[in-house]
Amino acid sequence: MNFFKKINAVAIDGPAGSGKSTVSRLVAERLGYTYIDTGATYRALTLKVMRKNVDLSDRKAIIELSGDLDLVLTPSEKEGRTINVILDGVDVSEEIRRMEVTVNVKHVCKIPEVRKNMVDLQRKMASEANGAVMEGRDTGTVVLPGAKYKFYVDAAFDERVERRFAEMRAKGVPVPKSEIEDDLKQRDHTDKTREVGPLKKADDAVLIDTTDLTIDQVVAKIVELVSRKG
Ligand code: DC
Repeated sequence: MNFFKKINAVAIDGPAGSGKSTVSRLVAERLGYTYIDTGATYRALTLKVMRKNVDLSDRKAIIELSGDLDLVLTPSEKEGRTINVILDGVDVSEEIRRMEVTVNVKHVCKIPEVRKNMVDLQRKMASEANGAVMEGRDTGTVVLPGAKYKFYVDAAFDERVERRFAEMRAKGVPVPKSEIEDDLKQRDHTDKTREVGPLKKADDAVLIDTTDLTIDQVVAKIVELVSRKG
């Protein structure tokens, strides 16, 4: 498949805490498309690296693991979970969201060879789908530059902190607000300054500021724009 030619896919990028996972999952459901969470692929690889006790500075070993990842993503019906992540045949959906993985993923996703392997895997997932909603940081710019529909969702920093805070509390894992603020600041910085595949709005992406919008309003807006464009 030529990923630069127009393909039937919706690419949704944006910073951590912008609400894009929930939105992407619901948009996929409404359109009958397959939801692909590229962040989950980097998280799963990071978990594998940690489980194998590979040092996070051992680029060679990490690159090797990234080239041969047994990973399957399936839609989740479970409340509060957007996707099921099956690594080596085992469901790791909860583990990949743990703080240790969230903190370590930056060491893995900055390696250019790793990104190349993961982009190949993500493209394979998209080409096997009959229409895909792909979510991440570089899906509109790098993974699927030919996606017919591209969106960049963002929200004010304080609002993103509030959302993450509420999400963690709802999960029964209360985290101090200051810790969430530090984590988001750090993630914004590493995401935007990464040499390969940085977080960036594609020139042809529609920007949606979700600060004052509900999830349903964002979903409705995206579905309407996709349907209008046809
Ligand atoms: O969306 P998320 O927070 O689950 O993503 C986890 C990490 O993976 C995030 O810190 C940045 C990285 N990531 C990336 O480098 N490229 C993507 N396309 C998606 C996520």
